[in-house]
Amino acid sequence: MDYQAEYQAALTLVEGELAGCFAEDGPQRELLEAMRYSLLAGGKRVRPVLALKFCEALCGEMEPALDYACAVEMLHTYSLIHDDLPCMDDDDLRRGKPTCHVKYGEWLALLAGDALQAAAFERLASSGRTSPAANGRACAVLARAAGAAGMCGGQYLDLLDEGKRVDEEQITRIHRWKTSALLEGACLLGLTASTVEPTRSQWAAAERYARELGLAFQIRDDMLDVTSTAEELGKPIGSDADNGKATFVSLYGLEACGRLVEEHTRLAQESVAGAFRNSDFLSGLARSLAERTH
Ligand code: IPE
Ligand code: IPE
Ligand code: MG
Ligand code: MG
Ligand code: MG
Repeated sequence: MDYQAEYQAALTLVEGELAGCFAEDGPQRELLEAMRYSLLAGGKRVRPVLALKFCEALCGEMEPALDYACAVEMLHTYSLIHDDLPCMDDDDLRRGKPTCHVKYGEWLALLAGDALQAAAFERLASSGRTSPAANGRACAVLARAAGAAGMCGGQYLDLLDEGKRVDEEQITRIHRWKTSALLEGACLLGLTASTVEPTRSQWAAAERYARELGLAFQIRDDMLDVTSTAEELGKPIGSDADNGKATFVSLYGLEACGRLVEEHTRLAQESVAGAFRNSDFLSGLARSLAERTH
C-alpha cells in the first residue's frame, strides 16, 4: 500500500468508530449534540492515526489500539473547543464550521469539552481490545500528556506570554507542551495497545519522533496562520498576531521557519528509522505534515 492508501485505511477505521459516539438520547441530548458537532467536524485525525500506526509498527495490527485512538481524538477535540473560547484564543471558525461556543453558547461548549475529556478516559479504562493492566497504563499516558506538564501547561504558558517578547527556549517549551505532548501521548498509546511489548529503545524512539514531529507541526501551524486562508485552513488566519502570540514566525520570520520545519521533520524521521518492523509510514507522515496546507 502507498502512503495515502495507508492513511486512508487508518482514517476509515477511526471515523467508523467515532461516528457512533454520543448518539444516545436523554435529557442531556443537546450536550451530546455539541460533543458530536465538534468531534465529527472532520479534523485530520493525526493523533488517532499515530496511535493506530505505532501499534501496527510494533505488532502488525491496528485494531488493538482503536479505542485508544478514539480517546486521544476526543481529548484533542476538547482541547480545541476550549482553545477557541473567548477567554482563550477567541476564534469563531474551527474545522470549517462555527466554533462550538458560537454554535451552542459558551457554557455548553465548556461542558462539551469537559465531557469529551471524561469520555476519553472512560474509553481508555474500559477498552475490551486490551488488558485491564494496559488500560491503566494508557490512562496514565494520556493524563500526563494532557495535564499541567503537557497540553494544559502549554496552553497556560501560551496565554500567559501573550503580548510578551519571548525567547526561543520559552517558545520551544510552549510548543513541546501544548502540541508535542499530546502527539507523544498518541504514539505511546499505540505502543501500549500493542500485543507485542515495546523495548525501551522503541519507547524512546517514539518519544523522540513525537517531540520533533510536534515542533515541526506547531511551527507549520504558526506559518499557516500567516500564509493560508480561512477557507483552506478551516480556522481563522491572523489569530496569533491578533492575540499577540509568541510564535517562531514572530521570532524568526517565515523563511527560517520553513528551514526549522525541515530540520525537525528530518530528526523525527531519523528517530524511527530502523526502530520498528516498518517505519516507512511514520516517516511518510512526518513528511506529509511538513508540507500540509491545512
Ligand atoms: C490543531 O490541531 C491544534 C494544534 C496543535 C496546532 P490539528 O491541526 O491536528 O487540528 P485538526 O484536528 O486537524 O482539526
Ligand atoms: C493550540 O495551538 C494547541 C492546543 C492545545 C489546542 P493553537 O491555538 O495555535 O491551535 P489553533 O491554531 O487554534 O488550531
Ligand atoms: Mg491557542
Ligand atoms: Mg487557537
Ligand atoms: Mg495556531
